[in-house]
Amino acid sequence: MKMPASFIAGDRGPWRIARVVAVRGEPLDPARALTVVEDGAAAAGGAAWVLRGVRSHDRYTTRAEKDQLTMSSPPLGRPGMHAALIPIRKSAAWWQLAQDERRAVIERSRHFPIGLEALPAVARRLYHSRDLGEDFDFLTWFEFAPDDAPVFDRLLLALRATEEWRYVDREVELRLVPASDGA
Ligand code: HEM
Repeated sequence: MKMPASFIAGDRGPWRIARVVAVRGEPLDPARALTVVEDGAAAAGGAAWVLRGVRSHDRYTTRAEKDQLTMSSPPLGRPGMHAALIPIRKSAAWWQLAQDERRAVIERSRHFPIGLEALPAVARRLYHSRDLGEDFDFLTWFEFAPDDAPVFDRLLLALRATEEWRYVDREVELRLVPASDGA
């Protein structure tokens, strides 16, 4: 099995936590900074909290959608970016649906077309946490230029108004800036 990535909140780290919104459900304990460790070899002593997730294969995209997304997606790690970490849990009702029913909800919600409108401004990565026994099902990570924050804000508003988001029962939004930006 792939090593999970760890998102470690504490006093110090490369990302300063600029803002936290408990969008739905339980919040996360407050912390000043975030460290992301991709390969799981994380020393998390004294952390306020640690969230873990694995990068995995796509579940829902068709070949055409996958190709279109790949073509329009910028890389992560571009210099000068701000970031967002949004852990999400979906309800029991979601997990009781069959795969085709979940795909139909995502399709009616226009998750992929709405997402595409934010490309190439927003770089993204999805981590799966549910099978690790974590409290969140997904950790979603985004990077965008500070000037593109409005594009990201519009994306969030549009997605949260969808049928798919009626199945979201816990969501916390963390906005991050590089610690070197006057932390
Ligand atoms: C930047 C634009 C975005 C694009 C292009 C995009 C695209 C996608 C795609 C293609 C998938 C399906 C992956 C698969 O087939 O398994 C997906 C899943 C997901 N996305 Fe987005 N997305 C975007 C923004 C967002 C945002 C802003 C959020 C959170 C607020 C989000 C939350 C999720 C979640 C939780 C899943 C997993 C859904 C599930 O498996 O039930 N996405 N996204």
